[in-house]
Amino acid sequence: MSSENKGKPGEKAAQFSMPTPLSNLEIKYTKIFINNEWHTSVSGKKFPVFNPATGEKICEVEEGDKEDVDKAVKAAREAFQLGSPWRRMDASERGKLLHKLADLMERDILILSTLESIDAGKAFTASYFADLPGAIKSLRYYAGWADKNHGRTVPMDGDYFTFTRHEPVGVCGQIIPWNFPLVMFSWKIAPALSNGNTVVIKPAEQTPLTALYMGSLIKEAGIPAGVVNIVPGYGPTAGAAISHHMDINKVAFTGSTEVGKLIKEAAGKTNLKRVTLELGGKSPVIIFADADLNVAVEQAHQGLFYHQGQCCIAGSRIFVEEPIYEEFVRRSAERAKQRVLGDPLLPTTQQGPQIDKEQYDRILELIESGKKEGAKLECGGGAWGDKGFFIQPTVFSNVKDDMRIAKEEIFGPVQQIMSFKTIDEVIKRANNTTYGLAAGVFTKDLDKAMTISTALQAGTVWINCYSAMSPQCPFGGFKMSGNGREMGEYGLHAYTEVKTVTMKIPQKNS
Ligand code: NAI
Ligand code: MG
Repeated sequence: MSSENKGKPGEKAAQFSMPTPLSNLEIKYTKIFINNEWHTSVSGKKFPVFNPATGEKICEVEEGDKEDVDKAVKAAREAFQLGSPWRRMDASERGKLLHKLADLMERDILILSTLESIDAGKAFTASYFADLPGAIKSLRYYAGWADKNHGRTVPMDGDYFTFTRHEPVGVCGQIIPWNFPLVMFSWKIAPALSNGNTVVIKPAEQTPLTALYMGSLIKEAGIPAGVVNIVPGYGPTAGAAISHHMDINKVAFTGSTEVGKLIKEAAGKTNLKRVTLELGGKSPVIIFADADLNVAVEQAHQGLFYHQGQCCIAGSRIFVEEPIYEEFVRRSAERAKQRVLGDPLLPTTQQGPQIDKEQYDRILELIESGKKEGAKLECGGGAWGDKGFFIQPTVFSNVKDDMRIAKEEIFGPVQQIMSFKTIDEVIKRANNTTYGLAAGVFTKDLDKAMTISTALQAGTVWINCYSAMSPQCPFGGFKMSGNGREMGEYGLHAYTEVKTVTMKIPQKNS
């Protein structure tokens, strides 16, 4: 989920000269980043970080916990005090700093892409051609907003002059997942800093390395101390310390629905901090018989298999109109069989490993449930290779709506294809889920496209495309896929408090 490049890293690689990932990359940053300095953990503990392609340990990272979060929040609070360098800084200057950070990411794109690939098992071509440009563009997009998020004058009744100020919310806790570590880092800090907030961010325990590298760039860019603090650590410890913190004003979370509920609960039990959530999905892709079949097969394929299926927007319920069902299934299985698995650093690799053993086991278990519940296995269906957490690209046909593979978020390279007869039927079935993140429809008939896009309960609907994203477009979920929107102008709301200021206007004859 990063940029319009997404979904076709291999093709991009063919068009441009292929960059080479760095060999023997030195891991420089493994500590906790507070006040623009590197700290060891208060507990003295560290945790291991693994390369999911080999299962080997890359390094150990300082393990942040409650005490470290407290230190980070203190630094962020100080940086937020009125009169601090950050609060006194011109809004346009904040924009310049975000641009500077983006410049430094461009300078270090090879380091960051290589690190992301090793840490997250992400195909290097995807890191280099999609994630990095996506993360950089998001910073630049919100850099532009820094001096444009302004209030209004309000025609209040009576003899008053009223205006609104768009103020920062305060100290923002941000908890991010492992599937798009750098993109999520950028999506979170960019709107927060754009509007003058300060941040305590926790990368996922599986993938802390690019976030920590960003700490060094944040310092180099000249962002004042305490504005961004990075605390690597586990969810139930460091993550929970953020969600329960009495001096954090807002939490932004991306991850599982299960943890999203815990985050809201923690806010309710503590200081009612503002909460935005971007959670999972079971997104429908509806393909009518009149669609361009080549386009629909390819987009449905990329929309599911991109980054090993580990995308919140993965189009994991494909509804195909009956007359083209068999042909669609045949072509989709053919396409899935062509996917090239292997070392994520190789330029030819399209599919790397799943992030860890937990996800790998969960996906394989769901594949088994599909077989048992009577779905037809068209290809794949098991593990791949003899090391790392690789899973064969898997396609199921004859999937019924009540099977587990049609209801649960798999977060793996497993495609479910169902058939439908009428538009009313498919709308009901597509909406019959607790999720509502994204959806796709493929048809040449404008009426059908508009009927479907109006009827579907989803935060994003793509027509004749899938996964097309860009920083200008708001992103988020209906129903249990989340609360609030990220990106675009809407994404600023979560980082803005609106203050209404009213002044009495003295009247001449009073
Ligand atoms: P998770 O929700 O546990 O992890 C995401 C982030 O939340 C990580 O930084 C983690 O350390 C943190 N976290 C975990 N427990 C926490 C707690 N009690 N309090 C505060 N923070 C906490 O997701 P996980 O276990 O890695 O994956 C489970 C499933 O979640 C996946 O199979 C997938 O279905 C979904 N998921 C969705 C993502 C999305 O992009 N929306 C990203 C990652 C996972
Ligand atoms: Mg979890």
